[in-house]
Amino acid sequence: MDAELEREFDRVVGAEQRIEPRDWMPDGYRKTLIRQIAQHAHSEIIGMQPEANWISRAPSLRRKAILLAKVQDEAGHGLYLYAATETLGADREDLTRKLVEGRQKYSSIFNYPTLNFADVGVIGWLVDGAAIVNQVPLCRTSYGPYARAMIRICKEESFHQRQGYELLMTMMRGTEAQRRMVQDAVDRWWWPSLMMFGPPDAESSNTAQSMAWRIKRHTNDELRQKFVDMTVPQADALGVTLPDPELRWNADRGHHDFGEIDWTEFWQVVGGNGPCSRQRIEHRRAAHDDGAWVREAAAAYAHRQTDREAIA
Ligand code: ACO
Repeated sequence: MDAELEREFDRVVGAEQRIEPRDWMPDGYRKTLIRQIAQHAHSEIIGMQPEANWISRAPSLRRKAILLAKVQDEAGHGLYLYAATETLGADREDLTRKLVEGRQKYSSIFNYPTLNFADVGVIGWLVDGAAIVNQVPLCRTSYGPYARAMIRICKEESFHQRQGYELLMTMMRGTEAQRRMVQDAVDRWWWPSLMMFGPPDAESSNTAQSMAWRIKRHTNDELRQKFVDMTVPQADALGVTLPDPELRWNADRGHHDFGEIDWTEFWQVVGGNGPCSRQRIEHRRAAHDDGAWVREAAAAYAHRQTDREAIA
């Protein structure tokens, strides 16, 4: 029986159709999806913190409104993604507990501090830009609820990327001090943005299986290269220098060559020892504890509604 179900699963995936929550799926496929989607959801939620740091200090009402909308979008992305894990049988409370106990990961990028307002623009341009390169192919991932969530998320991420680039363009047209702020932010965020795509293919434990299941559609290195190629002309148009002396066009490969990424730093950050790792998790834990009364009140209300319906 299982062999027949597995053949049908392979056929659906091979035919570029979608696996849906009620379909049979291998245990490993379910586990991999829960791991990846939960990590993605946690990243969206933790990712609200570095930018929220600047909401109260945005330099104008317009910038504040844009930033508020963007940070709220990230919360929405987290919620769609947690909902997608629930279709696989995961429990959101359990996932949150695993996050705050350090048993589930979130993106390395959100463990770096936001030191000046240009960081908001650079996060939009580079971090959300990298997120788009990574996530557009996920609109074609083999699991239906994840693929559909990614369509809306990518549309919103495109707005985030554009607002970041526009903010930086405005600062680059400003004073010399503003241009220095932008360059300083680019210098600090460039390498961590390249790390977002994950370890090199040779060290990526999950890629081969995830590609076979069509959960991932490209390898980490393929997407990283695409991001570099796309970003170099944007940096030129902006008038900033990317902090990599080895970055140059390679006509033979038809791609940019770039310098070695500091993988020791990456694994340190992934292991919970990034510059802001403790602060991020502490803040998330406190927000979760502070929200307990809301969850209790919502559960009590839902309970009462069910009782009323039972009586009626
Ligand atoms: N930060 C933290 N952990 C990472 C990162 C990263 N940037 N990249 C890889 N890892 C972890 C993986 O989760 C994996 O750990 P695990 O096996 O213990 O779970 C380990 O490093 C090895 O990496 P891979 O085998 O390459 O992992 P995977 O196949 O899952 O690929 C990737 C990683 C590319 C991030 C993939 O999971 C993915 O595309 N996820 C969806 C997108 C996403 O999560 N984006 C979050 C940031 S974008 C944003 O929120 C704005």
